[in-house]
Amino acid sequence: MSHRPALSFSGLSEQYGSLQPEIERAALEVLRSGWYVLGRQVREFEREFAAYCGRRCCVSCASGTEALALALMALGVGPGDEVITVANTAVPTVSAISMVGARPVFADVNQFLLMNVEHLPSLVTERSKVILPVHLYGQVADMEGINALAQQYGLRVVEDACQAHGAEHQGVRAGAWGDLGCFSFYPTKNLGCYGDGGAVVTDREDIHDLLRKLRNYGQEQRYLHLVKGINSRLDEIQAAMLRVKLPHLDQWNQARRQVAGWYHQRLAGLCGLPEDAPGNLHVYHLYVIRTARRDDLGSHLARHGVQTLIHYPVPVHLQKAYADLGYTVGDLPATEQAAREILSLPMHPAMTQEQVDLVSGLIADFARIEGWQ
Ligand SMILES: Cc1ncc(COP(=O)(O)O)c(C=O)c1O
Repeated sequence: MSHRPALSFSGLSEQYGSLQPEIERAALEVLRSGWYVLGRQVREFEREFAAYCGRRCCVSCASGTEALALALMALGVGPGDEVITVANTAVPTVSAISMVGARPVFADVNQFLLMNVEHLPSLVTERSKVILPVHLYGQVADMEGINALAQQYGLRVVEDACQAHGAEHQGVRAGAWGDLGCFSFYPTKNLGCYGDGGAVVTDREDIHDLLRKLRNYGQEQRYLHLVKGINSRLDEIQAAMLRVKLPHLDQWNQARRQVAGWYHQRLAGLCGLPEDAPGNLHVYHLYVIRTARRDDLGSHLARHGVQTLIHYPVPVHLQKAYADLGYTVGDLPATEQAAREILSLPMHPAMTQEQVDLVSGLIADFARIEGWQ
C-alpha cells in the first residue's frame, strides 16, 4: 500500500473537516430561523468584513463578478465609457465591464504579473472612467502608482481583490486602496463560502447607500424603486458560514505563506518563482511558477498524481468572446509570454512539508531528466 499523502489542489475538504461542527451549526441556525435573505447574518458579516478590510462600509452580493459590475454601476460607468484593466485575469473581471456596457482597455503587466503602471498614461482617453487593477494570485498591484495616476487624470479606481482577501501593501489591505474594492467568496478563494458570493467595500457612504439599492432591485423600501437595480444578494446561510470562517483568515493566510516559503526553498534554481513586490504581504491564493517547459512539466506532475492548473492559459484580449475589441497576438507581450509559461502548483493552508517535498521532488526529477541541472 502506498503511503503517499493525498494531495488536493485547493484543500477544500481539509478545511471543511477542520470546521465541520461550527459550519453545520451556523447553517442549521439559519435554516431554523425562517429568515433566508438580507437578515442579521448578512448585516453582521458586512460589518465584520468591512472592519477586516479597514473600510467603513461593505455591501455583500451574489458573486465577485457582480461585485465588480455593481461597483461600476455605482460609479455611473456605462456605454461609451472605457475601463482600463489587465488581460491576465479571470475572464469575469472583464465580463463585469461588458455587463455594464463599457469597453475594457488592457494594460500589460510587470514582472509580478500585476498591472504595469508605466503603460497607463498611453491608455487614457477622454472616455476613460475607471482603472481596474487585479490583485492577481494574492498580491496587491502597485496601488500608490495607480491612485496617483487616477488622481492626475480624474479617474476612479475599482480594485479586483477577488484573489486577495487579507493581502497587504504597506500594511493597508487589499480593497482599502481604491474608491471601491471587490471580492469573490467562491469556495476556493482564501475566504470562500459554500456556493457563490461576493462583496464590495468602500469608505464612501453615498456609494454604500447606492450599492445597497442596486443589489436589491433598486429599492430602499419594499416596492419603492429609486434606481434601476438587479438581484444580487448574498444569502443568509452563506453569510453565516463566512462569519465562521473570517476569524480564521489571517491564520490561513499565514499558513499559505509558510507553504510558499517551503516551495521557494525547494524549487530555487529549478524554475521561475513567484516574488513579493516591494512592500507587499502576498497571501498566495495561488502559487504560480514559470518555465518554458510548462506543458511537459504539467503532464509529468499529472502522471504522478499531482494536479496543476493554469491561471490563465488564454489572456482575455485573445479570447474569442472579446475578438470585437480588436486586439491581436503581440499587443500585450508580457501577458502573452506569461500565459505560455505559468503553472499553478497545489496550494492551501493545510498543505504539509511532506506534500511540498513530494511536488518539489517531482519537479526536481523532471529538471534532471530534461537536463536543466
Ligand atoms: C480575479 C478575479 N476576478 C473576478 C472573479 C469573479 O468572481 P466570481 O467567480 O465570484 O464571480 C474571480 C473568481 O473567479 C477572480 O479570480
